[in-house]
Amino acid sequence: MTDSKGAGAPIPFRNPGWAGNTGEFELSEEEVRGDEYVGVRPLDGGHPGVAPSYPYMKVERDPEAPLFEGPYRERFEKILTRYPDRQGALLPTLNLAEELRGHVSPETMDEVADLLELSKAYVRGVVSFYTMYNRRPVGRFLIQVCTNISCNLCGGDEVLQAFLEHTGTEMGETSEDGNFTVIEVECLAACGFPTAVQINSRYFENVTPREVPDILERLKAEVS
Ligand code: FES
Repeated sequence: MTDSKGAGAPIPFRNPGWAGNTGEFELSEEEVRGDEYVGVRPLDGGHPGVAPSYPYMKVERDPEAPLFEGPYRERFEKILTRYPDRQGALLPTLNLAEELRGHVSPETMDEVADLLELSKAYVRGVVSFYTMYNRRPVGRFLIQVCTNISCNLCGGDEVLQAFLEHTGTEMGETSEDGNFTVIEVECLAACGFPTAVQINSRYFENVTPREVPDILERLKAEVS
């Protein structure tokens, strides 16, 4: 992909970080998504229907946090109300544990098994089936670069290399400052906006290698 404004022109930050095509219009996130999807997300998850779904990747996590206390206990209880039995609640409970601790360690799997009265082997089998659970600690920002067909045709591999180069990491490794882990993923369901990159809970779309340093600087500024 080339910059339509020509080489040398400053690149506007075109990827404001949410899945939505603003096209030629200058729209804010609130205008694209509606007020009900933005703003402060309640830690207790609000309505049971959305209790497991947000926030799902926080920058700061506590690998030693108990499963579950306070508002997280409230969310866990809400999750249980949505399923006919405890086994049905396994995936959102794992999501909740990962949100809190940052990754799902073998110990976390065993604790979740106890909470839901399931066998430890069953829970480990489920976690290892899905690639979207982090089984190892990741950086404050987990950068997931899509290299599937649409993004690949539009330079996804180059975007991936740019993230690795500018974070000074190998694939799946965490940068020395603990900020970044870069991985390659399959389709992020944003094929109309290649290259798509998911960073924690945010989507960055139409990303080109030239924009990578700017994106990383902005992320660093959020945690400095
Ligand atoms: S191919 Fe990249 S988001 Fe679908």
